[in-house]
Amino acid sequence: MKKPSIPTFLSSFPDSGTLRFQAFDLLATLVAVVRTNGCVVFANAALEDALGTSRRTIEGSQLPECFTEPHILKHALEGAGSNEFAALRYDAWLRRLNHEPMPVHVVVAQTDTPGEAIVEMLPLEQQAKQDREERLIDQAQANKELIRNLAHEIKNPLGGIRGAAQLLQMEIGKDLTEYTQVIIHEADRLQSLVDRLLAPHRRPHLVGDVNIHEVCERVRSLILVEFPKGLRVVRDYDTSIPEFRGDREQLIQAVLNIAHNAAQELAQHITAGNATITFRTRVARQITFGKKRYRLALELHVIDNGPGVPDSIKDRIFYPLVSGREGGSGLGLTLAQTFVQQHHGLIECESRPGHTDFKLLIPLP
Ligand SMILES: Nc1ncnc2c1ncn2[C@@H]1O[C@H](COP(=O)(O)OP(=O)(O)OP(=O)(O)O)[C@@H](O)[C@H]1O
Ligand SMILES: [Mg+2]
Repeated sequence: MKKPSIPTFLSSFPDSGTLRFQAFDLLATLVAVVRTNGCVVFANAALEDALGTSRRTIEGSQLPECFTEPHILKHALEGAGSNEFAALRYDAWLRRLNHEPMPVHVVVAQTDTPGEAIVEMLPLEQQAKQDREERLIDQAQANKELIRNLAHEIKNPLGGIRGAAQLLQMEIGKDLTEYTQVIIHEADRLQSLVDRLLAPHRRPHLVGDVNIHEVCERVRSLILVEFPKGLRVVRDYDTSIPEFRGDREQLIQAVLNIAHNAAQELAQHITAGNATITFRTRVARQITFGKKRYRLALELHVIDNGPGVPDSIKDRIFYPLVSGREGGSGLGLTLAQTFVQQHHGLIECESRPGHTDFKLLIPLP
């Protein structure tokens, strides 16, 4: 992306654009007000968010350079400048920092001020994303019911089975206790599985002030105790994120489950000494997830450079009992999703070989 050059007329009135166009910050659509030479006068919060760059950086820079094909917008703006049209629409790809380009529908329209145009960018994936999130939330609700009922059905006879095996053990000769031991051992294993399944439903929601960086630091030290060599855990924190009301222990468990998966998938990289997990926190503004729109939300990314989530289970990793790992019970992510949803948030995953990004979104007050 081109280095921004702040034009003199803007640097002497740094807030002039912000004041005039403040209302655009309330829109979910990405909006920029530009001069017809492409120079950005104002960028709204949604655009700032999508580009992953601050408003100060965007304003004064060339908007066409934010697209994979800058010439299309350049021509469009020239056309707007010479009154060739009142509004023009086309599809394009917006380049983003640390992200894949985003497909958008661009609308270029003239304003009342000569030499100025409004560029509106509607993310094409927004609708698809919203559908996906709604599905995730519905699915989590259905999962919760199913798990709770199933867990109780398993739990009830377990105590009886274990007790009967113990009684049997006392009655039979030593040479057969090997078999009763198997029954007792397996009953215990099932018991602990069921306890994990029921844990999120049973535990009270202990609400207090949560500092997300304290949560990350706690998880970081737990992971480093377990994987002391060959794994780097990088912090990339936005320390301006405010505290929020929540259950600290639940959130630690959620982040730990995600980071623990990452560390497990990084086994080969750990041996090679180049395994990295990154904790990145950011603030997202005017964000929509599920069916709701939030003014402010916290984004925590847990990123690893491991092999990525296998394609065969990619769509189902948040389902209970889905595991791609030998010996995995497939509950870690289900629990993490439940805990984050109890904070009205959501976990999403983007994964390709070498880069897996679990994003926790939690609304801020
Ligand atoms: N960072 C990651 N990279 C690659 N694959 C992952 C990652 N995180 C999760 N997965 C895949 O998703 C599956 C489900 O994870 P989940 O934590 O729900 O269950 P699990 O780790 O198999 O078992 P457990 O209940 O012990 O956590 C994992 O088995 C793994 O295949
Ligand atoms: Mg796991």
